[in-house]
Amino acid sequence: MMLKHIQIFDTTLRDGEQTPGVSLTADDKILVARQLDKLGVDTIEAGFPISSKGEKKSVKSIVDAGLNAKICGLARVNKTDIDACLDCNVDLVHVFIPTSDIQIQYTIEKNREEVLRLAVDAVEYVKGQGVDCLFSAMDATRTKVDYLIRVYQEVENAGADMINVPDTVGIMRPSAMKDFVKKIYDVVKIPIDVHCHNDFGLAVANSLAAVEAGASQVQVAVNSLGERAGNADLAETVMSLHSIHKLKTNIQTKYLVETSRLLERLSGIRIPPNTPIVGDNAFSHESGIHTHGILMRTDTFEPGVMTPEMVGHIRRIVAGKHAGKHAVKQMLNTAGLEPTDGQLAEIMKRIKDLGDKGKRVTDADLYTIAEVIMGEVAKGEQAIVLEEVSVMTGNKITPTASIKAVVHGKPKNVAQSGVGPVDAALGAVQTILGKDEKIKLRDFRIEAITGGSDALAEVIIGVEDEKGNIVTSRAAREDIVMASVEALVSAINRLMLRKR
Ligand code: KIV
Ligand code: ZN
Repeated sequence: MMLKHIQIFDTTLRDGEQTPGVSLTADDKILVARQLDKLGVDTIEAGFPISSKGEKKSVKSIVDAGLNAKICGLARVNKTDIDACLDCNVDLVHVFIPTSDIQIQYTIEKNREEVLRLAVDAVEYVKGQGVDCLFSAMDATRTKVDYLIRVYQEVENAGADMINVPDTVGIMRPSAMKDFVKKIYDVVKIPIDVHCHNDFGLAVANSLAAVEAGASQVQVAVNSLGERAGNADLAETVMSLHSIHKLKTNIQTKYLVETSRLLERLSGIRIPPNTPIVGDNAFSHESGIHTHGILMRTDTFEPGVMTPEMVGHIRRIVAGKHAGKHAVKQMLNTAGLEPTDGQLAEIMKRIKDLGDKGKRVTDADLYTIAEVIMGEVAKGEQAIVLEEVSVMTGNKITPTASIKAVVHGKPKNVAQSGVGPVDAALGAVQTILGKDEKIKLRDFRIEAITGGSDALAEVIIGVEDEKGNIVTSRAAREDIVMASVEALVSAINRLMLRKR
């Protein structure tokens, strides 16, 4: 029953944009649509055109971008909504109406027969315009199955090209989802699509179960964006289909991490480091037993059927109190440091002491410890040697930072403005390094170590180069701006050293 090729319908720009607190500009949406197209999704749900003038304009501009993916617009089962989609020249109109008794009664105040008629009329109207039509029975998984099947059969007769089974409030479990979709699959001839929400963290599992029952399309969103707990995650669904179910999609999986990072940046929603596939830690190893295994053979402590290269990620061995000596040695070697066995033992001891004191051991801590124990190995090789930092801020002026430093051996001065003094100072550090060095800020955290307005602030900063190498560094000072600048300079210097 399982089809070999599964279609990917992306709803990041529609359901994903309904994530509380997320609002993308028209330019952002075009960027996202282009990235989804590069990734190879089959359909992009570009928006809900009737919802606002701006939304309609943005759906139209995505249609006009001439992408390979089909562009879809969402509509309720009325002529005005559908016309708004048709005005945008979408390839596909996605019409939806609730079918569960609770939603029929309390959200649209209709009865089952009225819902059935509205659904059929809407599908006939779309098809009458010569456009493809996807029909969704909203809250399908809480709908009486006999009635649901009747609705699906009637919209099939009305000409719908595909039906969607939304698990709108995410209440299914995989075995129930499989049985449910199978019942529909047995009687409906057009392809089946599923749209699973993640209220219990089961959206991906339920989507995969639906595929096992015969669904040929899954609706997903990047970084699991969407209403409440979000939709089935694109990367997790696709990689499970490829690597576990051995099914094909058109997704170029090497762009998965890049796509996730773009959505993190534009949506402002950071994903946790332990997010599967695309999170910072998805292929990171710290404990001695794991890193030793990984250094021997990567599939000892990774799935093997999925590698970081497949998804555009990198494998990282991380310093920390659980780190083993093989891993630490490899990290130091990568940074050009060759400790003797005695020096390595001392470095290990100090890392573990730091960890036992409750400190997060950053890469930069490891290199600093190593340099102290091995002598001043890296001195003189620093990309940035900071000489002077000054910052102006106030309620009547734009915060501006000036920095004087020696960069790659040459004296330089820059001034940079920002939304606040820290932003201006960090911007100045990045500017002083020059455009050729493509270094991105990945992580920025400030923690007050002591109380009061003169509290010692600890700043932890992670930077990433164009190859995805990440170095984390820290600095502690009473002055938050100086702590931020020092942490960033230290992280950049470590990253450059590692690159060399
Ligand atoms: O969750 C849902 O039911 C939806 C529909 C519009 C498909 O988003
Ligand atoms: Zn939804």
